[in-house]
Amino acid sequence: MNRDGKTLALEMKGVSKSFGGVQALSNVSFQVIPGEIHALMGENGAGKSTLMKLLGGVYTMTSGTISVFGEEVHITNPIEAAEHRIGVVYQEQSLVDSMTVADNILMGRIPNKFGWIDKKKQLELAKEALDTVQADVDLLAETGTLPVSKKQFVEIAKAISLNAEILVMDEPTSVLTMTETEHLFKLIRRLQAQGVSIIYISHRMEEIFELCDRCTVLKDGTYVDTVNIKDIDRRGLVGLMTGRTIADIYPKREQREKAAPLLEVKGLTKKGVFSDVSFQVEPGEIMGMYGLVGSGRSEVCRSLMAIDRLESGEIFLKGEKINIKKPREAIEKGIIYISEDRKYDGLFLRLPIETNISISTLKRYAKAGFISNKKEQKAINEMMKKLQVKAANTRQVVSDLSGGNQQKVMLAMWILVNADVMIVDEPTRGVDVGTKIEIYRIIRELADAGTAVIMISSELPEVLGCSDRIVVMHEGKIAGELPWQDATEENVLLMATGGE
Ligand SMILES: Nc1ncnc2c1ncn2[C@@H]1O[C@H](COP(=O)(O)OP(=O)(O)OP(=O)(O)O)[C@@H](O)[C@H]1O
Ligand SMILES: [Mg+2]
Repeated sequence: MNRDGKTLALEMKGVSKSFGGVQALSNVSFQVIPGEIHALMGENGAGKSTLMKLLGGVYTMTSGTISVFGEEVHITNPIEAAEHRIGVVYQEQSLVDSMTVADNILMGRIPNKFGWIDKKKQLELAKEALDTVQADVDLLAETGTLPVSKKQFVEIAKAISLNAEILVMDEPTSVLTMTETEHLFKLIRRLQAQGVSIIYISHRMEEIFELCDRCTVLKDGTYVDTVNIKDIDRRGLVGLMTGRTIADIYPKREQREKAAPLLEVKGLTKKGVFSDVSFQVEPGEIMGMYGLVGSGRSEVCRSLMAIDRLESGEIFLKGEKINIKKPREAIEKGIIYISEDRKYDGLFLRLPIETNISISTLKRYAKAGFISNKKEQKAINEMMKKLQVKAANTRQVVSDLSGGNQQKVMLAMWILVNADVMIVDEPTRGVDVGTKIEIYRIIRELADAGTAVIMISSELPEVLGCSDRIVVMHEGKIAGELPWQDATEENVLLMATGGE
């Protein structure tokens, strides 16, 4: 094999893939230079994951060719991909919860030529891979007991344990904290320095500009362009992905009349997690909640909903003290919480889109005991259009949708509930930039209609761009509060890190 640096590490030519009637990719070409970090970008459903699953042997191509270091290869299953030293970290978790970390890392491994597996040697290999990713994980731990972020590093260890020369990462940071992301970036750069070619997928622009050398853009399953990152800016990249220029990402904020708070919390406390948290939200207001991971922002909202138990504190809804014991009661009172890990426990993946969207709202469409199919169908169709859910039709099962489109279905389902208080936790995670803009607009519309919105996000620009007021948390306490006009990246971050 020619590994002189002149030959392409990977060349995919004329690749097409269809799933029944859905043409996921048509005639796509993609080239990776040895040792580069190559971003693969495009809107939800553009075909990024599908292209990488063809490379990883999860799917087989309808037509097209793949060459690795100048030689055409045939990849029809994951083992063949591994033989060509291709490692893939998939968008959805692929680990088996009931197995140990070591067994997961070694799963799918090729036994030696006698068909033997040398247990001791294998364990050493797994350990070596874990050491490389520097994840503080016990080799013999049961995988299901690990937090998602640790699982992600185990996935990466698994992908590189085969000495991958081409490493694909499909949205690896969507479950990582800021510190973990930095850790991952260091690892990626180390691998790059060792000559590994990396294909990197993310919807987070900052990451692409920080990490990547080149970028290929797909749109609706077709190839758009490949550019050098240093020759393009955000606006240019958004233009390539969406095919349109975008003037304003965030909706305009109008001067609002002061109103009586819709939701007020006083002295919320949970030992060791948060203490003495008080704030209020008015109807029509979007209150941004910012804090580093571990600051307690999601925990506060979870206990508000009685998902976690609260030790002390009072909650008032429309001036009246309420006592919520179960999430169900909160929902009935008109408070909903769209959690950040909706992807894993919020959706019924095996059911069609329409069922998912309407499950939470059936009551509202039920008139005198029966469900008006027409009304329901209309609401669902409108919501799908608004959020630009990319699917063949509403009867498609959710698990066949691209990652970002699954998120949109979840969001649609809750938006239709039309709550008084809506807490959205990381609402745009994994969602493409065009849809982000749409989600910001919808959240603003809900507020304009009188909903009190609490928006939690770890993307600071998003919090700054959307909120009327920003409450900052640090180590379980409210560190301060700023009206949007006074909030900047600097002063919010300073507060969030315990500075002045
Ligand atoms: N197993 C499948 N069966 C049917 N259709 C599928 C399947 N997998 C993907 N698709 C369709 O192929 C298209 C491309 O999906 P893909 O997952 O590659 O998008 P993506 O670019 O990775 O999007 P995202 O950013 O949301 O992850 C979508 O229209 C999707 O619905
Ligand atoms: Mg994807």
